Amino acid sequence: MKNNNEMTNIVHESARLHVSGEAKYIDDIDFSSLLHARVFYSSYAHAEIVSYDLTEARKVNGVHAVIGPDDLPSENQMGCIFHDEPVLAEGVVECVGQAMFLIAAETEEQCIEAEKLIKVEFKELDAIITLPEAIEKGELLQPRRKIERGDVEKAFKEAENVIEGELEVGGQEHWYLETQVAVAIPGEAGDLKILSSTQNPTEVQAIVSEVLGIARMQVEVEMRRMGGAFGGKESQANHIAAWAALLAAKTKRPVKLRLFRDDDQKITGKRHPFLIKYKAAYTNEGRITAVDFEQNCNGGHATDLTMSILERAQMHADNYYFIPNMKIIGNAWKTNLPSNTAFRGFGGPQGMAGIETIIDRVARNLGKDAGSIRKINFYGSRDRNITPYGQKVENNRLSRLWNETVNISEYRARRKQVDAFNKKNKFVKRGLAITPIKFGISFTTSFLNQAGALVNIYRDGSVLVNHGGTEMGQGLHTKIAQIAASELGVNYSCIKVTATNTSKVPNSSPTAASSGTDMNGMAVKNAVEKLKQRMASVVAT
Ligand code: HPA
Ligand code: CA
Repeated sequence: MKNNNEMTNIVHESARLHVSGEAKYIDDIDFSSLLHARVFYSSYAHAEIVSYDLTEARKVNGVHAVIGPDDLPSENQMGCIFHDEPVLAEGVVECVGQAMFLIAAETEEQCIEAEKLIKVEFKELDAIITLPEAIEKGELLQPRRKIERGDVEKAFKEAENVIEGELEVGGQEHWYLETQVAVAIPGEAGDLKILSSTQNPTEVQAIVSEVLGIARMQVEVEMRRMGGAFGGKESQANHIAAWAALLAAKTKRPVKLRLFRDDDQKITGKRHPFLIKYKAAYTNEGRITAVDFEQNCNGGHATDLTMSILERAQMHADNYYFIPNMKIIGNAWKTNLPSNTAFRGFGGPQGMAGIETIIDRVARNLGKDAGSIRKINFYGSRDRNITPYGQKVENNRLSRLWNETVNISEYRARRKQVDAFNKKNKFVKRGLAITPIKFGISFTTSFLNQAGALVNIYRDGSVLVNHGGTEMGQGLHTKIAQIAASELGVNYSCIKVTATNTSKVPNSSPTAASSGTDMNGMAVKNAVEKLKQRMASVVAT
């Protein structure tokens, strides 16, 4: 950045590039030099890296770069919130799938040939995989979180009934149709353009700039569309882009890194498995008076988004039920797995599964339909309407929704049919449930709840819209085009929404937390209002 002293001695902004021949004119742009990349990753869950040798791999015909942790231009760090995730493993590997070396070659086959010639000596260490093992070892990723309201101990002493138990919720692979992929295209003077399959172009820009030790203004990230993401590209697309960027910076050629499906499944994190320990008190009618939850989640080897996910699980532990006395402990355990990450619901489903298990057990113990137990525990409209985290439940429409759903679905009649079937059949059973959900739309990290837009109106009446959200098949751009058309009062066919780009709309939030249309739609509406005002003042004169 220039300070005032530097400002006194200014030369043409491209002078150095002109003289060195680096300045690119259109005819200089080479579209034929794309290299392919591959990640060499750990096959051990936990091991010391005793030694490694890249010499033979580097000699393979067509190979342009093989880089390890010693070849990085800046800090060996790509953690998105907490800086606890190395770009390439150094000294130790902490999960199967952890990146160790990066290869760039003219073909994918040459990459694979080079990969086979990388020699590594490992010394295997004890690995922690499951939650019970992690709890026993006692290594938390970050300090434990607690939400508490009322007097849980007293409520248990006075309880008519108490149950205790454990619930295991498993992990899940995202299986987006398009695996993780990025292309890094070097520009002049160390600049880079990144095409990234990401829900979070701004964070890709930030991480690429950090791993290369360059400013964010030098990194342009573009995202036209993803072939699915489901949370798997909220933070972890950063890694693929960072690896491609390192190879592009090293070779000065465009580099494409696309993970093969099996590599993607090994390298990337999944939904967080949870082990929820619970104790609940309830009356003979089925009203829950106290719940004590210990939510343990398997974070994998690094923090990634785990703490936000765990906090969301804690804030969904009540689901739609008023529980006067409640304690929710959240523990994020470190294990030797790929770092688990965002996945549709972002901890909410795991959190709600705990209380729904309690409801189900209360219903069975009292011999009642679980729906009726749910209903008598609902949040109220005028009282019983404060959550354990202190938020008032406003505009509560659940009773209406519930009654309409029960009627439309013919729940009661079908319940009878299911019960009759189950009485008659010993081995085949049917089930029926009606379950409400109170889900927190928007980011729990409040500053992320903002968006930006750029609306260009051309003189032929066509309109080009950019905003900070990303399209992953959910139809965001379609809805944004509808908003722009309706706010401008023009036909939908006049509007085009183009690729999300960090140089058009900077500092955007990830497309996540069910907030993409609300936030970016409002930004587009706001931009259109400003343009309409400007045009009105011209039309009026
Ligand atoms: N924070 C960050 N990312 C998210 C969230 C959130 O609350 N929900 C879904 N993705
Ligand atoms: Ca995955």
